[in-house]
Amino acid sequence: MTSKALLAATALAAITLSLPATAAELTVGFSQIGSESGWRAAETSVSKAEATKRKVTLKIADAQQKQENQIKAIRSFIAQGVDAIFLAPVVSSGWDAVLKEAKEAKIPVVLFDRDIDPSGKELYLTAVTSDSVHEGAVAGEWLAKTVAGKACNVVELQGTVGASVATNRKKGFDSAVAKNANLKVVRSQTGDFTRAKGKEVMESFIKAEGGGKTICAVYAHNDDMMVGAIQAMKEAGLKPGKDILTVSIDAVPDIFKAIAAGEANATVELTPNMAGPALDAIMAFKAKGTVPPKWIQTESKLYTAADDPQKIYDSKKGLGY
Ligand code: AHR
Repeated sequence: MTSKALLAATALAAITLSLPATAAELTVGFSQIGSESGWRAAETSVSKAEATKRKVTLKIADAQQKQENQIKAIRSFIAQGVDAIFLAPVVSSGWDAVLKEAKEAKIPVVLFDRDIDPSGKELYLTAVTSDSVHEGAVAGEWLAKTVAGKACNVVELQGTVGASVATNRKKGFDSAVAKNANLKVVRSQTGDFTRAKGKEVMESFIKAEGGGKTICAVYAHNDDMMVGAIQAMKEAGLKPGKDILTVSIDAVPDIFKAIAAGEANATVELTPNMAGPALDAIMAFKAKGTVPPKWIQTESKLYTAADDPQKIYDSKKGLGY
């Protein structure tokens, strides 16, 4: 090769290297929590579909609810040199060291559906989440409006201990309770976001509260725990949705089925589509250097029996929940 041709080839190689990656070339690693709930299963299937739509290769690592597995997965994604990492953090603390490693490797991180502690704020590009304090407040305000000043003892099924959404959904609900002296949370325990645990804890609440006679309402941090609680109420001879009011979060198909049957009363929707906005943000960041807002907020909408629950059930049931 002549020196002129060599120069031209070198220049072309340099340009090619600096060209932005096209979506087809992007590989994203997704550290998913597990499959504790119907909502979580839907988030995983929607993420696959959104990546396919954009021709992005998505590698999903299921952490089986363990933070140590998530940390291992992130380290493996860094070693593989992925273009971005999506992380649904099981708990809010303990991420700084591994996210620093991702930052040093220049791999942008996007948080999905849960937050991490403020000390990690500089270590991720953006977070696609709802306002989970607001979700709890919406649930509490619905209950206050529904019981209209009547004294109401509430039992609460909390999400995973240490998860931002559990802390925040409790905080939001408590803010509504603080404004309404007739509402009182008499028992509150984790059901770990699962149906089985929700049922088990509700059974113990029913036993401790005179067979359920002193319970006016159940507030669950997700619908799956509520579905378990509904089962526990039925097995105890109670009529969920009538003897005991219910309000929960997620808007999964099964809760609409229960609302349609008069066995549940209200749910606050959390979209399982965190991946669509996250992938758009990453693609714009990679192609043009566009820095997304630090928080991409998803909507939180309340649904009750007034919203044609059967129709919503029919429209949602095939979506991967
Ligand atoms: O972080 C979102 C929560 O995690 C969902 O509300 C719950 O169902 C899930 O497992």
